[in-house]
Amino acid sequence: MAIHRHDVLIIGSGAAGLSVALHLPDHVNVALLSKGELTSASTYYAQGGVAAVLDHEDSMESHIADTHEAGAGLCHDNAVRFTVENGPEAIHWLIDEGVAFTRLHGAGGDGDYHLAREGGHSHRRIIHAADATGLAISSSLIDKVKARPNVDLYEHRVAVDLIHGDDEGSHRCRGAYIHNHSTGNTDVFLARSVVLATGGASKAYLYTSNPDVATGDGIAMAWRGGCRVANMEFMQFHPTCLFHPNARNFLVSEALRGEGATLIRPDGERFMPDFDERGELAPRDVVARAIDHEMKRLGLDCVYLDITHKSQDFIINHFPTVYAKCLQLGIDISRDPIPVVPAAHYTCGGVITDLNGCTDLPGLYAIGETAFTGLHGANRMASNSLLECIVFGTAASRHIAAHLETMPAPVHAPEWDDTLVTDSDEDVVIAHNWDELRRFMWDYVGIVRTVKRLERARHRIDLLKREIHEYYSNYRISNDLIELRNLVVVADLMIRAALSRHESRGLHYLLDYPRPLSDARDTVLLPDNAVKIRFAAEA
Ligand code: FAD
Ligand code: SIN
Repeated sequence: MAIHRHDVLIIGSGAAGLSVALHLPDHVNVALLSKGELTSASTYYAQGGVAAVLDHEDSMESHIADTHEAGAGLCHDNAVRFTVENGPEAIHWLIDEGVAFTRLHGAGGDGDYHLAREGGHSHRRIIHAADATGLAISSSLIDKVKARPNVDLYEHRVAVDLIHGDDEGSHRCRGAYIHNHSTGNTDVFLARSVVLATGGASKAYLYTSNPDVATGDGIAMAWRGGCRVANMEFMQFHPTCLFHPNARNFLVSEALRGEGATLIRPDGERFMPDFDERGELAPRDVVARAIDHEMKRLGLDCVYLDITHKSQDFIINHFPTVYAKCLQLGIDISRDPIPVVPAAHYTCGGVITDLNGCTDLPGLYAIGETAFTGLHGANRMASNSLLECIVFGTAASRHIAAHLETMPAPVHAPEWDDTLVTDSDEDVVIAHNWDELRRFMWDYVGIVRTVKRLERARHRIDLLKREIHEYYSNYRISNDLIELRNLVVVADLMIRAALSRHESRGLHYLLDYPRPLSDARDTVLLPDNAVKIRFAAEA
């Protein structure tokens, strides 16, 4: 089995991982890993855009206030200010890296950038590349990282667990065990600093807008490594995913609602004004709950998003991806309403970090959707996520570069030992457990919750935890098994966090406790092996 040595190991090739890699100085030797191809990340599929204060009529205070409002009283003001105030610099960096955001006079034009509007924002402040912003960001940043001689790229590698322990008297992260699909081996990657940029955990749910890689691996690895996690009960459901038997995980961007698209019942009646005076541009938790309410009340399979008030030219110009995808499925969105349903979209909780991305474990950073920085509170505001990836990626790279010399290069680590395990002859068990977990998370830990259903979920997850632990201890690992082991951890954290919050706030809506408490608190979970070393928030 191979041993690889680098200064910095970055696990993940989305906006967060790429941003860290590209901000590190040339003399720092980096390994950047991706579970599949470099594009296999939520970042690649992002549609709406990136929020930042770019218009002279907008203001930092307004973006800050909107973020707090959407976050339902739980956002940390220092994280919100840090992100918003660094927003314009992050956007200029993306432009310098070659991201072709849409101009007012169309692609390739030289006018000002077009700014879109999404739920919760009181101004137009979403810079975007039509409705394929993630593709534009991924392509530009991947091109740049491929041209960097100091960055070694590894595709189709799955991080299994962190390597950490005492080194010269201090407990710290020293690398990770990495499973290689093609050889079947699990290699050792040693590094002075390790960055978890592994994205979110929406695959814990049966229906999701996310790609398959979103199995919460970084959160589970950090938890097993002794780091605290916070606010895992706040799973965001995007209100409008395409409802069609031949469309898997396809999002219909909130930016359509920003251009006046309305949500209607099958009879053509608009319903959002009955729920919130902001109508279709209320924050996501409100809109998703309203759709869920209408679907349950009327026994519907879906509701409809109607943008037929706009011309075909406008729609093709602003939403070419959504237009083409729907047309391919026989829906001309310039004439017909789009069938939509809510689906799991974003993990607001994660590994606790400070403003430099430092976790509880020295040498370990968490950036992007994997992290809990305090920015999103009880409900992330649209298009604040990509912004967080770039702002915190930049801050972490500066912190890593400044402290690299003080982090001794790890010399060795125990090799991965699979001498006691055998090949599994029961892969069907893994497939079955995957399915079961995602289904009960959807049914019992979804948009509207009750204590009784959460208790049911806890009972199921306890059984699954035991079964998967036994399976993991006896059989050789595969990608599916690695992911299932992580999904069980993150689902357990979500259920425990949800059961411990006796109120309704933001994305956590509990029928038994329908109102928010006067005192807004984070749900901080501490692992049994909590690293005694340092708590990021106190460092
Ligand atoms: P990701 O982009 O998900 O990248 C995770 C990386 O980690 C991947 O490379 C993956 O392969 C790798 N990885 C995971 N586990 C392992 C492992 N064990 N070993 C090795 N590698 C691993 N946000 C916005 O702000 N604006 C938008 O318009 C927007 N639109 C969205 C549309 C869709 C359809 C989706 C799904 C999300 C959208 N979001 C949007 C949310 C946003 O895209 C994500 O939160 C953000 O891209 C996360 O970036 P990331 O770098 O943290 O993770
Ligand atoms: C969208 O385009 O609706 C997604 C935006 C986001 O998740 O921030």
